[in-house]
Amino acid sequence: MIPLCVLGPSGRMGAQVATLALASSELRLCSAADRAGSAIVGSRIAGSDVVVGDDLQGALSQAKVYIDFTTPASTASAARIAAKQGCAAVVGTTGLDAEAESALDELARVAPVLVAANFSPGVALLLHLAELAARALGPAYDLEVLELHHRNKVDAPSGTALALGKALAKGRDLDFQAALQSARTGQVGPRKDNEIGMFAIRGGDIIGEHTAFLIGAEERIEISHKAQRRSVFASGALRAASWLAERAPGRYTMTDLLGF
Ligand SMILES: NC(=O)c1ccc[n+]([C@@H]2O[C@H](COP(=O)([O-])OP(=O)(O)OC[C@H]3O[C@@H](n4cnc5c(N)ncnc54)[C@H](OP(=O)(O)O)[C@@H]3O)[C@@H](O)[C@H]2O)c1
Repeated sequence: MIPLCVLGPSGRMGAQVATLALASSELRLCSAADRAGSAIVGSRIAGSDVVVGDDLQGALSQAKVYIDFTTPASTASAARIAAKQGCAAVVGTTGLDAEAESALDELARVAPVLVAANFSPGVALLLHLAELAARALGPAYDLEVLELHHRNKVDAPSGTALALGKALAKGRDLDFQAALQSARTGQVGPRKDNEIGMFAIRGGDIIGEHTAFLIGAEERIEISHKAQRRSVFASGALRAASWLAERAPGRYTMTDLLGF
């Protein structure tokens, strides 16, 4: 059994990961750590004898792999500590800044690291289909992305929407950053040929929905993914952790894991 540490077990995702990890036949939940001062610190993960701590170093030292659905700042500090211990990282936190990315690059020199904005197998397929569709239909079709999430999500557009935009840009041979047109407002003028528009809706308890639009003069194609349960991300992250623990140091993606 591979010893696993879960970060942020008080969170929506961390709680799911910790619960599902207890049923794993490959992973053994050995530690969990949350933010110092969090109400969960000192309590037990239900159904286990793992007590949630706030000592990241102590928690990671017991594990071969950790799963991180927290905040960009926390992702950066966890990666820096894990690099000293050679602990593999499965990171689902989105909105990562340059500091977090560089800490993960450093970690990848000594341990395997898999970062994904979305751990559902369906979204991995969606990204492939979007790239294929953009390539097949060509410049006569305008590319747009719409994402919907619950009212508590703090970053926009979602990491998955950005990945979807990048997949469309790749299919069309566009520079994604140059093509990106976030939430049009005001006198924006007519749409340019090489734009990729991106829109975020927030409300209620929507888990996560993403649609790529390819809009032509006479027809439009919509390729959509709708997460029905948050557990789809948690089980994907656990699958990634089992797989990643046996890999060589370096950066990996969901495509490497799923073999599309
Ligand atoms: N890749 C995917 O498939 C996927 C799917 C869903 C969500 N996400 C992303 O995952 C992240 C978390 O989402 P969520 O909905 O679970 O958010 P959330 O409910 O706010 O959970 C974040 C958790 O991180 C904890 N945390 C903050 N600082 C920490 C630290 N220094 N050490 C350890 N834990 C710390 C928070 O604790 P406190 O509450 O005590 O501050 C909280 O429990 C977001 O970036 C979200 O976009 C990714």
